[in-house]
Amino acid sequence: MKRILVVSYSQTGQLTRILDNLLAPLEAAGDVAVVREALQPQPAYPFPWTALAFTDVFPESVQQWPCRLAPPTFDPAADFDAVILAYTVWYLSPSLPVTAFLQSPEAARVMRGRPVITLIGCRNMWLLAQEKVKAAIVQNGGRPAGNIVRMDRAANLSGVVSIAYWMLTGRKERFLGIFPRPGVSEADIAATARFGRPLQAALASGDWSGLQPRLNRLGAAPVVPAYILFELRIAKIFQVWARFIRRKGGPGDPARNGRLRLFRAYLLTAVFLLAPVATVATAVLQRLKKEKLLKMVTHFAENRTGPLEG
Ligand SMILES: Cc1cc2nc3c(=O)[nH]c(=O)nc-3n(C[C@H](O)[C@H](O)[C@H](O)COP(=O)(O)O)c2cc1C
Repeated sequence: MKRILVVSYSQTGQLTRILDNLLAPLEAAGDVAVVREALQPQPAYPFPWTALAFTDVFPESVQQWPCRLAPPTFDPAADFDAVILAYTVWYLSPSLPVTAFLQSPEAARVMRGRPVITLIGCRNMWLLAQEKVKAAIVQNGGRPAGNIVRMDRAANLSGVVSIAYWMLTGRKERFLGIFPRPGVSEADIAATARFGRPLQAALASGDWSGLQPRLNRLGAAPVVPAYILFELRIAKIFQVWARFIRRKGGPGDPARNGRLRLFRAYLLTAVFLLAPVATVATAVLQRLKKEKLLKMVTHFAENRTGPLEG
């Protein structure tokens, strides 16, 4: 009997459903014991979000200041053959509950010497969040052994409107009947089951070396080159904003509300006015940096650790 620990945080339950589909073939096989740990931030993050709460998590997400978590229920000293970490992306970083878990003594204990498979559910930008997560796994003594990404299929701009509508109203439906339905499609959620089989094979053989290529043949980690440039640029600006806001106080401190409002105004401007300009600039850069970009695509798609060269 193989044993896996599955740690996750999903606010609306979308990622939980994706995870359920990934685990279904393993659970059906009957020879894998699955121990599940759903992280519980204290207090829970509100859903739907208020505009203030949505931006109040920004500085700490970007700078990876952990939130408080309820004590985990799994035994970190138990023997596991692998760990699955299912997370969502907040501001190009792992969500705060996952950041908190990655920095916990339980994560260090349970990841040490073990393969860690990541499952990401996000809108469309996961590359730099995964860099942070891989670094934390390595720091904990674990081995990033495979990565599976499920995301929205909407175009970038209409997707922003859709997800904002979902996050701020709690309604996972088409805004005004015009915008695409937010979130990962039902078909993509269900089709996550196809990644269960390569996982099962790696678990059975104990050979994790070929897992990522096998997952990629099934479309596990598609990398859009333009998004590499997008994310690298946005991440730099995010760091500046995060420092600027945190100088006024920590999470929930009313002293920083003014700066959070400014950041919201920046986000709106960036998304609707600067993004089209950035798209053109990115297309030009993409031509100039073709070789560097290709190297980076390989780095992300193959779930490599170490510095991002390019
Ligand atoms: C505060 C916040 C910030 C987010 N930032 C990103 C992001 O940078 N990139 C991205 O692809 N998705 C982003 N998302 C979408 C989430 O990754 C995720 O798809 C969505 O919150 C649903 O996840 P759930 O399973 O926790 O409900 C963000 C969501 C929230 C709430």
